[in-house]
Amino acid sequence: MSQMGSPRDRYAVIGNPVGHSKSPFIHARFAEQTGEPIEYTHLLAPIEAFVSHVQAFIEAGGRGLNVTVPFKLEAHAFATRLSPRAAAAGAVNTLRFEAGEIHGDNTDGFGLVRDIEVNLATPLKGVRILLLGAGGAARGVVLPMLERAPHTLTIVNRTAAKAQELVSQFGEAAQAAGCRLTGGGATAIEPGAYDVIVNATAGSLDAALPECDDRAFGGGTLAYDMMYGAQPTVFMQHAQTLGARAADGLGMLVEQAAESFYIWRGVRPDGAPVLAELRRMLAAPSAA
Ligand code: ATR
Repeated sequence: MSQMGSPRDRYAVIGNPVGHSKSPFIHARFAEQTGEPIEYTHLLAPIEAFVSHVQAFIEAGGRGLNVTVPFKLEAHAFATRLSPRAAAAGAVNTLRFEAGEIHGDNTDGFGLVRDIEVNLATPLKGVRILLLGAGGAARGVVLPMLERAPHTLTIVNRTAAKAQELVSQFGEAAQAAGCRLTGGGATAIEPGAYDVIVNATAGSLDAALPECDDRAFGGGTLAYDMMYGAQPTVFMQHAQTLGARAADGLGMLVEQAAESFYIWRGVRPDGAPVLAELRRMLAAPSAA
């Protein structure tokens, strides 16, 4: 596992497709900011060849990987050690290679919580949260949200049974956090506007609005879509018409990357300036 004389430690984001990933840009900014000597590239792996590509990367001296679609479950299975939050998420987005071990972690939920609490200045302690969706993206953020000790977390999903499964899985963690955890189909939404509504459904990808009672949105609600794009998503637009404040997932992307960088380097970069730069690039791509 020598670095073959390379002055820079090697990292990459592995996925399929992966060419569109903003992670190399983000980590290059973090490296400049902190002075850490890293190189960070894209790594395209064929769908059937995740493990062999990771092994080749390790043999070439690679120190860590971010893992994106569709390999997060395989990365979870491939890791020899899992952080508690990766085990809870059932998925891994960050691998660190050290002393023959493959450490798997998941920084997505941390990134979401940090974006909401720090960048969007919305504390989660004691508030009522509605989580829409119960797939991989939703599962990955439940534990980090519970750890902020919200008053209530309601998980609502088109397929009610999947939301109920998450409620069972995280029942103990909720109890430890003093949080009331409930969930099911659309009828599980409780009366009164929520403080925070997180859209973790894949709906925004095809411009579909997840079913959600309009009364869940109010003037004091932060409506957060884990997706992002040059334009506000349909979920964000809908929330805004109901008087809520809306945010997309670009900040989550930056903050999950910052936490990965911290895992690898022991240095915490500042996400805010990189988020501002990405936001400008997204608004005016030709100016980038
Ligand atoms: P991901 O890893 O992005 O979470 P996933 O595990 O396939 O992907 O989960 C997709 C989530 O989006 C699920 O909660 C799904 O609801 P179902 O469990 O009922 O399938 C939700 N979803 C996808 N399209 C949706 C739509 N048009 N309306 C509402 N929910 C939708």
